[in-house]
Amino acid sequence: MDQRPVGFLDSGLGGISVLREALQQLPHEDYLYYGDTANAPYGDKSPEEILQLTHRGVDKLTALGCKAIVIACNTATSAAAGRLRQELCLPIIGMEPALKPAALLEGTGSILVMATRVTLALPKFQTLMEKYGENAIPVPCPGLMECVESGKLEGDEVNALLGKILSPYRRQPVKAVVLGCTHYPFLRKAIASFFAPGVPLIDGNAGTVRQLKRRLSEENLLSDGLAGGRITYLSSCEDPKVIERMQRMLELNS
Ligand code: DGL
Repeated sequence: MDQRPVGFLDSGLGGISVLREALQQLPHEDYLYYGDTANAPYGDKSPEEILQLTHRGVDKLTALGCKAIVIACNTATSAAAGRLRQELCLPIIGMEPALKPAALLEGTGSILVMATRVTLALPKFQTLMEKYGENAIPVPCPGLMECVESGKLEGDEVNALLGKILSPYRRQPVKAVVLGCTHYPFLRKAIASFFAPGVPLIDGNAGTVRQLKRRLSEENLLSDGLAGGRITYLSSCEDPKVIERMQRMLELNS
């Protein structure tokens, strides 16, 4: 039993979509959420820079007494998780685009994997493509996380950007769409409107939290189950509005 908080980190608001899932599956844990808003987006930085920034965020969370870390960002996981696991001895849970569950679905047509340019270019995703990518098409989505950061979750601007990104795929059969960036579940409604009804939009959040639960249990780090559910928000940006926005995103129903 261990009452210390679980640390979550992302380049901004995206990881809140994973934290939301954690509150469902692990309601008795306490959480520290760190958004590196001052340095967002990560998706167009070099892997070295992303590694440094992620390292800094993880150091901050461990210094504050976290018992485990969830890198609630596909981009940061791709660039930094391997290195951080070598250096640190606490559980580090990362993310990857949910291509495997999408590939295992029945049906025909392509699987569109929406993610940042960096996530799609790094070896972690290349390995995933070799195993499960037979019908997969990587779709880089520059500008999309910025919509979420600025609170634009639907409307003309988001639809225009999505139209630009998704128009090449509108005339082909699509079996599933993978939301390979933790910001994108907040755009679920807008993204779904570009596809036929019933096309599944799959994110990796539930699987990531199941893995967190497994690791906490293996290491005997689960809380005693009596209290918990406290969330403390931190940001690299000093504007207090950023913390308010994090709280609001957690309450959203998307
Ligand atoms: N939320 C992040 C991810 O899952 C990345 C967004 C960004 O900073 O570009 O990849």
